[in-house]
Amino acid sequence: MSAEPSLPNPAPRFGVWLIGARGSVATTAIAGSAAVAAGLHPPTGMVTETTPFLSCGLPPLSSLVFGGHDTVDCPLPKRAEHLAEGGVLPHGLPAAVHAELAEADRQIKPGGPLTGHDDPRSQDELIDAFAADIVAFVRDQDLAGAVVVNVASTEPVPTGDTLPPSSLYAAAALRAGCPYVNFTPSSGLHHPALAADAATASVPYAGRDGKTGQTLLRSVLGPMFLHRALAVRAWSGTNLLGGGDGAALADPAAAAAKNAGKERVLTDTLGAAPQGEVHIDDVPALGDWKTAWDHIAFDGFLGARMVLQTTWQGCDSALAAPLVLDLARLLLRAHTAGLTGPRPELGFYFKDPDPGAGAALGEQYAALVDFADRLRGAR
Ligand SMILES: NC(=O)c1ccc[n+]([C@@H]2O[C@H](COP(=O)([O-])OP(=O)(O)OC[C@H]3O[C@@H](n4cnc5c(N)ncnc54)[C@H](O)[C@@H]3O)[C@@H](O)[C@H]2O)c1
Repeated sequence: MSAEPSLPNPAPRFGVWLIGARGSVATTAIAGSAAVAAGLHPPTGMVTETTPFLSCGLPPLSSLVFGGHDTVDCPLPKRAEHLAEGGVLPHGLPAAVHAELAEADRQIKPGGPLTGHDDPRSQDELIDAFAADIVAFVRDQDLAGAVVVNVASTEPVPTGDTLPPSSLYAAAALRAGCPYVNFTPSSGLHHPALAADAATASVPYAGRDGKTGQTLLRSVLGPMFLHRALAVRAWSGTNLLGGGDGAALADPAAAAAKNAGKERVLTDTLGAAPQGEVHIDDVPALGDWKTAWDHIAFDGFLGARMVLQTTWQGCDSALAAPLVLDLARLLLRAHTAGLTGPRPELGFYFKDPDPGAGAALGEQYAALVDFADRLRGAR
């Protein structure tokens, strides 16, 4: 009697658990992953699809399964249609990837706290509930692991001991044994009350606040002025944007959290903070399309006074989504490679990177490519 032929093991699948899973960035990442995996669009903007990152064991896009928490209930296919109407997603894409969006939508659980401080659950109960949702996702979907990525609305800088939602979710990620990425300026794992947990975490984590537009440019131009021995006298910036992010950043406390990261890049690259401020204006009519204007006053030889002005016009979610996918894949791979703790090698992606990351984009890219080599050599 011949033995039953054994079936080949199915390829492992990995979870991407998005906090703020029905937002613009999350919806663009989910729709974009499905579109690129199906060959409908090239992976433009995805650094992990370029040559230095090939064959270093990153999970393929087709192996990613999406889920997450959100506090709103607009279904993902509907959210994607709104984004297509605003020109963020190509027309026809929401229909083409409807099945993937609907499946991801079924994996989204209600987030919290419910309304302000009215949620009857204690902080520990909330962390437990969020962690249980993530663990159930991994178990029910038969996943080899999952990464938690925060792409929820920016919070004001917290005061007092109460953990803000982003920190509750970050604690839940650690409790569920998942790597964690904070793509927002919110506290997340940076809250002082989580310092001990972060220091002993058995998972890798990275943050914070994705570097997608104005700050990306600053991290290139800052070193240029420094290396050419040109004296920057003042660096001022203004951002105009709408969408959910624009509305959240209309709150001066939330904008302060964002602006701190933008200004830090200048201090880190120039060695000292120049004069000037950054402002963010909510202009709902602009939707997801951001205009960022920088005015840089600098001195040349013999005190000659000069000015550089830059205008960046970008589609915020289209800039952010490929980085979210890159970070999810890199953290999932770092986890399977047994790496733990903060990953300054991923500073390339952040306005406010983990300590140890360089500040100039070129230096950060070199560290990222070294990291890819390290992952390639790992089990
Ligand atoms: N280029 C970029 O787009 C970019 C760059 C860097 C950082 N970010 C950050 O990414 C985040 C998302 O941006 P967006 O444009 O998608 O914003 P968005 O407003 O479209 O989406 C945010 C989502 O978070 C959800 N949310 C709010 N509070 C929550 C909670 N307590 N629990 C779970 N979900 C919650 C909202 O319901 C919403 O669906 C923002 O913090 C933004 O600052 C974006």
